[in-house]
Amino acid sequence: MTSNELHTRHRTRVDLPENTRAAMGLILNERLADFLDLERQAKQAHWNVRGPHFQPLHELFDAVATLAVGWADDLAERAVQLGVVAEGTVQAVAERSELPRCPTNVEHSHEWVHIIAEALAFCANAARADIKEAVAAEDDITADLLTRITGEADKQLWFVEAHLDER
Ligand SMILES: [Fe+2]
Repeated sequence: MTSNELHTRHRTRVDLPENTRAAMGLILNERLADFLDLERQAKQAHWNVRGPHFQPLHELFDAVATLAVGWADDLAERAVQLGVVAEGTVQAVAERSELPRCPTNVEHSHEWVHIIAEALAFCANAARADIKEAVAAEDDITADLLTRITGEADKQLWFVEAHLDER
């Protein structure tokens, strides 16, 4: 079971107020679940994509998965720095992630591009919204982390969306 309660678990000498650390910890765990879900979806796409654009898409989806693991690691470690348990188990991610569910019966490569674009956009836009929360809470370090991750995720979203040639 995931925890949505605002409390901390570890003692820390970080001098942010306890309620700020707890609130940031909850946000960080929400984004952690999203990005770990994104990593699984990108690997699913990496393995199962087929068609004339196989090679570039196979590589692009793997790059997204690798980056998502790194973003998740930084989010989890920031939560722990604030005295909050990082909840990155498969069960916690399945319970907490709000990404669209990834289908397993995908036929065409452009469907995979749409699926990963939607998943990446959800992750990036949720992180972007949380920057304002972190700024309002005066946790500049979490705000900076979320800003960096959002920028890098936006770049990957561009790489994926460019395959769709949408107008
Ligand atoms: Fe691989």
